Amino acid sequence: GAEVVINGSSSPAVVDRSNESIKHNIQPASAKWRHNQTLSLRIRKQILKFLDAEKDISVLKGTLKPGDIIHYIFDRDSTMNVSQNLYELLPRTSPLKNKHFGTCAIVGNSGVLLNSGCGQEIDTHSFVIRCNLAPVQEYARDVGLKTDLVTMNPSVVQRAFEDLVNATWREKLLQRLHSLNGSILWIPAFMARGGKQRVEWVNELILKHHVNVRTAYPSLRLLHAVRGYWLTNKVHIKRPTTGLLMYTLATRFCNQIYLYGFWPFPLDQNQNPVKYHYYDSLKYGYTSQASPHTMPLEFKALKSLHEQGALKLTVGQCD
Ligand code: CTP
Repeated sequence: GAEVVINGSSSPAVVDRSNESIKHNIQPASAKWRHNQTLSLRIRKQILKFLDAEKDISVLKGTLKPGDIIHYIFDRDSTMNVSQNLYELLPRTSPLKNKHFGTCAIVGNSGVLLNSGCGQEIDTHSFVIRCNLAPVQEYARDVGLKTDLVTMNPSVVQRAFEDLVNATWREKLLQRLHSLNGSILWIPAFMARGGKQRVEWVNELILKHHVNVRTAYPSLRLLHAVRGYWLTNKVHIKRPTTGLLMYTLATRFCNQIYLYGFWPFPLDQNQNPVKYHYYDSLKYGYTSQASPHTMPLEFKALKSLHEQGALKLTVGQCD
């Protein structure tokens, strides 16, 4: 089995490699969970040895200029040029500079959120992070509306907006971007070469229509640093998911961290089917050889942290 040891905790949680959701029983929400401040601070310190969320959340204007060449992190042989548009959208200072929040929500995209009624609770947190431009309006009761930071893998442009094939899809994406209304839009532009054109389209839309978002593009070292941190803690992640990246970053500026919509299993704790995403019909793919993610392994690590009070996972209904 895989061992999950977090920062020299005296009683390391040992878990097996089984993917069955039944083994992941999370204690009823309100009952026993208590925040462990000491452990949270220890984790923050440990992560700071690998990365600094304030810096690594985005490349800054001062460090690049138009025409600079960047090697993609996962496709080292492929390069991109820093375009004028990208340059213009790089922040001058970190969007997280000197930021501290009492409680943060990180909202993953699992279908476990459906009928959770967690929307209100999510919206009470001081800082709410969402992933991959997931829709909120139609699901507000279960996922809330507040969005302070939202990620957008370039593949979202293809999956959710038909690669902007016509004016209708362009308008849809534009509306979604407008609705972000000043929040941080976090685009991993330097990860994989496939996203080149899509990132450019989005940058162009934002500039042309004066969309009110604060764009951020994660640093070139973030991925490896996050992986390194978890490896040191014996969590052997091939490629961290967006959700895990967000947790790792959030430890820097959030006192308490609450996770919703993290459930990479096709059945819930009562053996009812769970959609992979709460908002579309994408199927579970992480078990396939081709998938670079190891979500169930990540989940075990997060569950262990939940049990130790370093974060709180909600995988059922909110009160
Ligand atoms: N997630 C989860 N269980 C699911 C679906 C998603 O725990 N059934 C979490 C993962 O941490 C994931 C995050 O929610 O990174 C956001 O979901 P999604 O947009 O689906 O991310 P992916 O595209 O699957 O993965 P990534 O963006 O990290 O490549």
